[in-house]
Amino acid sequence: MARVAVVGVGAIGGVLAALLETAGRHEITLCTRRALEELTVKTPEGVVRVRARNLTDAARAEAVDWVLVATKTYDAAGAGAWLRGLAADGAPVAVVQNGVEHRERFAPYVAAERIVPVVIDCPVERQPDGTVVQRGVARMKVEAGPLGREFAELFRGSGAEVELTADFKTAAWRKLCINAPGALNALTMKPAGVLQDAALGRVALEMVRECAAVGRAEGARLDDTVAEQVLDGYRAQPRDSINSMLADRLAGRPMEIDARNGVIVRLGEKHGIETPLNRMAAAVLEQGIGNRE
Ligand SMILES: NC(=O)c1ccc[n+]([C@@H]2O[C@H](COP(=O)([O-])OP(=O)(O)OC[C@H]3O[C@@H](n4cnc5c(N)ncnc54)[C@H](OP(=O)(O)O)[C@@H]3O)[C@@H](O)[C@H]2O)c1
Repeated sequence: MARVAVVGVGAIGGVLAALLETAGRHEITLCTRRALEELTVKTPEGVVRVRARNLTDAARAEAVDWVLVATKTYDAAGAGAWLRGLAADGAPVAVVQNGVEHRERFAPYVAAERIVPVVIDCPVERQPDGTVVQRGVARMKVEAGPLGREFAELFRGSGAEVELTADFKTAAWRKLCINAPGALNALTMKPAGVLQDAALGRVALEMVRECAAVGRAEGARLDDTVAEQVLDGYRAQPRDSINSMLADRLAGRPMEIDARNGVIVRLGEKHGIETPLNRMAAAVLEQGIGNRE
């Protein structure tokens, strides 16, 4: 049994909470901005009702054994406020977010050696009534090591697939290669099918190549056909599939622009690598065309 707190109970946080509930042996605390009457997650295996304590005030958070952070990357400061109480006794903090800067993002709030970066793949969305709909298996990659093993153990018996990897950097950059051209969906405000277009497909390929070049300079091992693999993946999706960047834009929410495209530009500058397409995507989306005055 472990006392586990989930900070940010949206799509991914909801899935993590349901997996912990399914594991059946944890004391779960859900940390949210607004009170949560209940949490229901429709999983491929059936409906899971999460039995948990709900906190809405970070100042009242008490120490737990593990913290799982699943806010959007741009809400790191708000998530960080929870850590003073939740990690007061040195609990490890798993950062379950996209991007390649998990440690950098939470360095102001928790000691680097207690941060456990996690990459997750899971088709899931949160519906307007708060129900979370999970449409496939949750697959996570976490750094191999004692904390990675402890993290994987939290989910034993839950149905989640947790892989320990000795090369987390490559796992995170590979995911970023997939996420980077997702900006094209947010820019065009069109779902996955728009990448069937030949001209836009070529732009997507170049965006991934920029990302891969920067990733390689950072030490990730990405093969020469990663761009083609990513585009094939997009083109194999249902045409109406909506990525989270497009979903955020359509809903008028902030987007993870810096974590998904801005970071490629920033780290590209560090290595002297040009990233014109990601630069343009980030700059234009930062203006929030269509959803800001
Ligand atoms: N959705 C996917 O399919 C998917 C797949 C792979 C990876 N990811 C990544 O996983 C991460 C989480 O994404 P998501 O889709 O789960 O986002 P989401 O549905 O928007 O959920 C984020 C949650 O964090 C909450 N939050 C924000 N600030 C908070 C604070 N200070 N205290 C407590 N809760 C706070 C939000 O609360 P409110 O409800 O009040 O806004 C929201 O419920 C992102 O990095 C995303 O890129 C997502």
